Amino acid sequence: NLLVSKHAVSEDSDNQVAMMQLNRPKALNALSDAVLDDVLHAAHVLDKDPTVRCLILTGSAKAFAAGADISEMKTKNFEDAYGTDMFGHWQELSRLQKPLLAAVSGFCLGGGCEVAMMCDMILCSKSAKFGQPEINLGIIAGGGGTQRLTRAIGKSKSMYMHLTGEFISAEEAYNSGLVAKVFPDDELMDETLKIAKTIASKGVLSVQAAKEAVNAAEELPLQEGLRLERRLFHSLFATKDQKEGMAAFLEKRPADFS
Ligand code: HXC
Repeated sequence: NLLVSKHAVSEDSDNQVAMMQLNRPKALNALSDAVLDDVLHAAHVLDKDPTVRCLILTGSAKAFAAGADISEMKTKNFEDAYGTDMFGHWQELSRLQKPLLAAVSGFCLGGGCEVAMMCDMILCSKSAKFGQPEINLGIIAGGGGTQRLTRAIGKSKSMYMHLTGEFISAEEAYNSGLVAKVFPDDELMDETLKIAKTIASKGVLSVQAAKEAVNAAEELPLQEGLRLERRLFHSLFATKDQKEGMAAFLEKRPADFS
């Protein structure tokens, strides 16, 4: 269900970027319980691996993921869904310490779009199509789609997608702020790896703090968010990387973060 690979950040370092690739091609990477268990397990292991600096989650050229597995959901009743907090554990993906990039090609729908939005940023290819088509199945999004998509692209566009079930193109997703970058299809993986390696070359603690602060902006009132940012900013003055980063700038050389 999942292929995991590691990529060295540079020849002279042990640091790595880890890639998790959804691999259920016959069902367009529909997110069955087994697929999600594999993703969550791998993500937790990689998040704790000290050599891994950045994670990528991707799918195939045809589909990042076409949603939760409809054949598994079909027979569930209220007791199954509410009683087991169905899909509640997916949120763990949004609580990793290391940056997680979604690299999206093709269909990115329903739970697939929600999983992509749990990642710290979305990069996509021109073929990507994003949608929350749950309304066509007589349900609504249940993995954060009504909340994260609304925060990402605004109420009207989000409402339109949730009520009509229509998909948006990569270009619309880019123009709406849902994705950070769009690449030609055959360049998506190389470009995503480049971005991940760039992030991996920065200071580990400052990357972690930046991720924590930006993600907090989705949840906190402004004054609390500003306070959290300032406290994290202050705390980075206790790190060797702050000394190294500023010394390197003044000495006109590249920083060597530890
Ligand atoms: C199970 C799925 C699936 C899904 C596709 N397949 N999506 N199986 N769950 N979500 C299977 C199809 O049944 C088919 O299997 C095979 O993948 C290929 O799909 P086709 O439909 O033949 O491909 P195509 O005509 O290219 O259409 C692609 C598509 C369409 C537009 C993406 O498959 C589609 O609409 N899928 C459902 C999208 C959706 O509604 N997602 C939201 C799910 S609900 P066979 O065996 O026939 O070849 C959800 C809730 C999340 O995500 C809640 C909280 C996390």
